[in-house]
Amino acid sequence: MIGFIGGSGIYEALPLTDVREREIETPFGEPSAPVTIGTYEGTETEVAFIPRHGRHHQYSPTDLPYRANIYAFKTLGVERVIASNAVGSLRKEIEPRTLVVPDQLFDRTRHREYSFFGEGMVVHQGFAEPFCPELSKELQNAAVTETDASVKGGGTYVTIEGPQFSTRAESEFYREQGFDIIGMTAIPEAKLAREAELCYATVAGVTDWDVWKTDSQVSLEEVLENASHNEAAIQDVVGAAIESLSETRSCECGSALEGTINTDPEHIPE
Ligand code: ADE
Repeated sequence: MIGFIGGSGIYEALPLTDVREREIETPFGEPSAPVTIGTYEGTETEVAFIPRHGRHHQYSPTDLPYRANIYAFKTLGVERVIASNAVGSLRKEIEPRTLVVPDQLFDRTRHREYSFFGEGMVVHQGFAEPFCPELSKELQNAAVTETDASVKGGGTYVTIEGPQFSTRAESEFYREQGFDIIGMTAIPEAKLAREAELCYATVAGVTDWDVWKTDSQVSLEEVLENASHNEAAIQDVVGAAIESLSETRSCECGSALEGTINTDPEHIPE
């Protein structure tokens, strides 16, 4: 099964058959919304969808139930998670309405739950490559072949806490660091997916220039207009990736916990 975490309206346009809804309770509370499950038209692939911000866009990036969302997918048997994000651009060559499949993350969040573990079980996982390379490749190929959008493969996505956009000084700082796009939700989603041994990759739709480029603010109106334009392209990318993904995974995401759990008796709770 493939999991898709996207914008609120997007699943209505995915051609799913045999659609049903599952309410899932997890040890980390309820997901952002009941999970919509269906079979992707013309395939035998089951898709599970969660609108990241809830059906009524009621969760801010800080308050989102990230752990419940990933846990719910794991419970349903999802092995790969495709995410979509609205992001700002930090580079003049990445124009609004470009689709970016980033290969790196930089974490500037502060108030989130980053792990399923803790409380006596210590897990130190590798996260040098935060996205599944196999899934990212499928998304990038699909973006190039299935859409008219400009596509950038690779790049660094800096995740800020929000909900406010950045100051001009922060935006300029991120540019100096070499970051490419800026958003609010890829962390901790990517970390939790890795802990759950799920493949995770994102197709990010650029909605604005952030604040480094002009002397104006990020306009919510511009963000929403470009986000709704990008959604159609993102649906095509997700659909094509679902159709072309092989049944079995050849990446290492499925065994990402191997060797990472500290079994030193001193660290195991009584
Ligand atoms: N999401 C969309 N545009 C953004 C921006 N400029 N900064 C942070 N998150 C965003």
